[in-house]
Order: sequence, then structure tokens, then C-alpha cells
Amino acid sequence: MSAIIKHIEWDGRILKVLDQKRLPKEEQWLECETVEDVYRVIKDMNIRGAPLIGIVAAFGVVINVKNNKSHGIEKAINEAIALLSQARPTAVNLFWALERMKATYVSNKRNKDIVEILEQEAYKIWEEDVQISEKMAEYGARFVESGDRILTHCNAGALATGGYGTALGVIYKANQQGKDILVYVDETRPVLQGARLTCWELNKAGIKYKLISDNMAGFLMSQRKINKIFVGADRIVKNGGFANKIGTYSLACLAKKHNIPFYVVAPSSSFDLNLENETQIPIEYRSREEVIFINEKPIAPVDSNVENPAFDVTPPELVTAIICEEGVIDPPFTEGISRIFNLGK
Ligand code: MRU
Repeated sequence: MSAIIKHIEWDGRILKVLDQKRLPKEEQWLECETVEDVYRVIKDMNIRGAPLIGIVAAFGVVINVKNNKSHGIEKAINEAIALLSQARPTAVNLFWALERMKATYVSNKRNKDIVEILEQEAYKIWEEDVQISEKMAEYGARFVESGDRILTHCNAGALATGGYGTALGVIYKANQQGKDILVYVDETRPVLQGARLTCWELNKAGIKYKLISDNMAGFLMSQRKINKIFVGADRIVKNGGFANKIGTYSLACLAKKHNIPFYVVAPSSSFDLNLENETQIPIEYRSREEVIFINEKPIAPVDSNVENPAFDVTPPELVTAIICEEGVIDPPFTEGISRIFNLGK
């Protein structure tokens, strides 16, 4: 697929990341030379999107090991993991990637090439994500037909992953297959990932889209202008419930009311099989400034009280199917997820 976007670069010492906060206005890169730099770009959302957070965190571990190996590799790994795991709480990919780096260390700690092995593992996490995006896109595109008018929320595209994206990957694939589709892009307040990032990606890919503000989706569904919804996920639990960008739950309720298929697209690294249901997922609350200011300009009295949950949770009964690299999971999800991940074996 041609939609891949260069947004991270590793030169063996420094991780360069495209600053997503500045998009679409300018394409500026930030350099991470220390694990603290990596922590900051994740926490401040210069990079964001569940799979990408995991990839960047893995390189954060490598950076700390390379910078501090003379004081002990295990210490450097533990310190990096302790810091990076505080960066953002909801996307499970962060913890998945950190655990994978730790497990790689544990299995190879006596190997003299341990630093290179860790670096290769971070690369592998990145490369695998690209391949996984392709597989999910293949499965997901089977649900897309010419003439579809698809709503997507937030940015679940190349910018959010190592490759083509999750929900947007499906759209790229369907477009590549020659299907004529129109994408409705939810602007996604307060951080505007839909307006700033998804529109930027779709522009680059030359795919037809219409930007809408979040409160327009219900009306368009009632008018039958939207006939399918594809979203990503930050954490999917055992019963098939999931967390995703704030606003997803409202869309799922509206989709149910209007009989519109609602698909969730996410890699296996976004599944948390330690949690039984979606109410157990930790939800990130972010700063009041994100709601009061747009582009540093206040859109409300600056002393307004604010509540700013960055994610919401959607129960499984509102989901039509979950698409991951292993295939399509249909309801009932508890059984489907258990089967696909070989739980209980
Ligand atoms: O706060 P963000 O921008 O990191 O949230 C991103 C999302 O909610 C995406 O929909 C999600 O990560 C899945 S797409 C890869």
C-alpha cells in the first residue's frame, strides 16, 4: 500500500520523530537523545496512537541502555521501563512493548551482544507492526464495498502506527483495490487528531473525504449518509469491550440506533487479556488547557472548570466485529477472542 508515511527515524543513537502536534501546519522533527526525551514526546502527544507509542517506547529503552550501559544494562532497562510506563495509561501497547523489551533482556542477558539484540527487538516491533497493518487491512477491506460512506474517528492511520494504520489502513487498502469510497472524518475534539492528522493523511493519499465536527455524526447517520464505521482501539479486553479516543462510545450508540455496522480494527498488541471487561480499563485524564485552548487561543473563559477524559469505553454489544492480524472476530467476543488467542490451552 502506498500510504506509508515516514514519521520516525532511528540512526543508532537518536530517535527522530515527526512532531504530530505541529501537523498539518508544518512538518517538523524532534530529536530524542535520552529516555526523558522519549517520555516527553509520548506524554505530550508529539507522537501518539497506540501502536506507535509502543514502538517509540521500545526505542526509548534502547536509548537508555546505550547511554548508561557502563552503569549496568539491567538497571538502565528497569529505569527506562519505570519512567516510560508512566507516560500514558490507556493504550496497552506501551506496556506490551516494554514487557517485550524486558523479556528480550531476560532471555539474552548473558549474550555479549545484548545491546544489539535489544536494538534489533525494537526494530522488530516496528517492522512487525507494518506487516500486521497490511494483514488487518486485507481482512478489513473485505467489509468495504464501492459506494460506501465510512465514518472514522481520531487518527487510526499511518501516523498512529509503524505502518499503514488500523482503521485507516482498511480504507487505504479498499482504495487501492479500486473501491470508490467517501470517508467522513470526525474532527475529534479536543486534540483534533481527525481534523489535523486524518485529513492530512487522506489528502496525501488522494482519498475523498469530508471533515465533520463531532456533533454532526448522529444527524448524518440518521440521513443514511454514513453506512459503515471503522475505528481503532487503545485496549481491547477479554469480553470484546474496548477503549478508544473519547467520542467513540457515542458513535457506537448512534450506530446501534441506526443499524450501522461498527468495526474495530486493532493489532494483537492492543489486546489486554488480563482484564475481563471494559470498565476495568484505566482512563487517561488530560489537562484543562487542551479543552480551553485551540492553537494557543482560548475558546472559553480561561478560568473555566474542565473535565477532560482522553478516552471512553465501548461495551461489546455495540460492536459488529473486531479485526486483528489473526482474522475477524465475530460476537460473542469472549469465545472468539479466547479461540483466536488460544486462551485456556
Ligand atoms: O490520544 P491518542 O491520539 O494517542 O489516541 C489515539 C486513538 O485513540 C486511536 O484511535 C488509537 O490509538 C487506535 S489507532 C492506532
